[in-house]
Amino acid sequence: MWDDRYASEDYAYGTTPNIFFKTIIDQERLTGSLLLPAEGEGRNAVYAAKNGLQVSAFDISNEGKNKALKLAEREKVGIHYEVGEFFDLSLVNGNFDAAALIFAHFPPNIASKYHRKIAELIKPGGLLIIEGFSVGHLALRKANPKVGGPGNVDMLYSEDSIRRDFPGFEVMQLEEVNVDLKEGNFHNGASKVIRFIGKKIG
Ligand SMILES: C[S@@+](CC[C@H](N)C(=O)[O-])C[C@H]1O[C@@H](n2cnc3c(N)ncnc32)[C@H](O)[C@@H]1O
Repeated sequence: MWDDRYASEDYAYGTTPNIFFKTIIDQERLTGSLLLPAEGEGRNAVYAAKNGLQVSAFDISNEGKNKALKLAEREKVGIHYEVGEFFDLSLVNGNFDAAALIFAHFPPNIASKYHRKIAELIKPGGLLIIEGFSVGHLALRKANPKVGGPGNVDMLYSEDSIRRDFPGFEVMQLEEVNVDLKEGNFHNGASKVIRFIGKKIG
């Protein structure tokens, strides 16, 4: 499905970064290394690289990687991008100053395992940034399928699921927010998202 979605010339979620992600990058003036799981066509990766971060990304879509590298070339930055299941990649042995999960909705059977591993790879004091559709978004998606997001409630975020999967983080922000998404052709309209910023303890 994802390769099909990314096969067209257009960028499915646009080429500008997610607004929440951009705000944190700008405000916190992050430096060092950043991990971007499920990074798709690279809009966030390229923005972070343009702001001086060393970006490592992964996804299951080869087309996503191709589009991301094309965008990086166009914007004259370098990013590291691996394709495959997380635990098979060399990135799973990395160590990062920060990580960001932007609309990273993993299948329910692996999501918690992936989340815990991502948490482990962040250095003490490092930041974790999350924006993802919340359980409350499901009703909005039914009313307007163009808004996007998974149809499976078990793939959606809640404040409880964040607290459960990321216990080793000091919560700097955790809330469900109403947003009007305008991200390419596939995230359009009234949405409910969970936003999280956590600082790794230890
Ligand atoms: C809604 S898109 C978000 C892409 C990107 N983070 C963004 O904000 O533009 C969800 C992404 O999750 C990826 N994905 C789904 N299952 C995955 C898995 N098991 N491992 C890695 N990526 C996965 C898809 O290929 C897709 O690129």
